[in-house]
Amino acid sequence: MKCLIINGSPKKNGNTDRVLDAFRTNFDGDIEEINPFSINGKGIQSCLDCGGCTRQKGCVINDDFNKLIKDDYDILLIASPIYMSNLPGPMINIVNRFNFIFNNKNVLHSSFDFKHKKGVLILLGGGSACKKLMGDSNQSNAIKQSMYIFSKLNAEVAKENTIVYVETDAHPVENNYLLLEQVKDIACSLNKENFFIEER
Ligand SMILES: Cc1cc2nc3c(=O)[nH]c(=O)nc-3n(C[C@H](O)[C@H](O)[C@H](O)COP(=O)(O)O)c2cc1C
Repeated sequence: MKCLIINGSPKKNGNTDRVLDAFRTNFDGDIEEINPFSINGKGIQSCLDCGGCTRQKGCVINDDFNKLIKDDYDILLIASPIYMSNLPGPMINIVNRFNFIFNNKNVLHSSFDFKHKKGVLILLGGGSACKKLMGDSNQSNAIKQSMYIFSKLNAEVAKENTIVYVETDAHPVENNYLLLEQVKDIACSLNKENFFIEER
């Protein structure tokens, strides 16, 4: 059983990292982690509209997006801070990189069939919506953007595997035992699942 974590925060020991610690220490399976900000890896850059995906299958950019579409994991966990009521910029890069699916299909008549998997969503916000830009919404864009990533990779996110916590300014994750317990529960319930790797 393998979990691929997308860590959407540039901060070591920040709220996202601490929430992920609770998952890392309680999940029994293998974990691979990517960070689109290029923390400990190549990162994930934006689609360059280079047209490579009209000539060959997949995306020609050589970065950590390839680990996402390798599809060798059973669980996809997105943990990210909310920035200006959206996912941070490098997380949005993931959204626009799915452009390759459109071009592969329409020009090359080739489709990507990602295997069905479980999704886990953990979004963290400090508590102040970016009202001038977004109106009152503090979460809905970030949720929609995350759900788009899950849907493209065929990951199903159950309600009990979703945490949207937007009070980290007043109550940081460190010492927030209720929140950390919730994350631990998610990891423990995933440990009880039986996953069968589908052959592609
Ligand atoms: C550029 C920027 C924009 C932010 N915008 C929002 C926001 O719109 N809504 C919100 O609730 N928190 C916002 N925050 C606060 C972060 O989401 C919050 O502090 C989060 O816990 C940071 O997680 P981290 O420590 O893992 O990086 C913003 C923070 C930054 C740096």
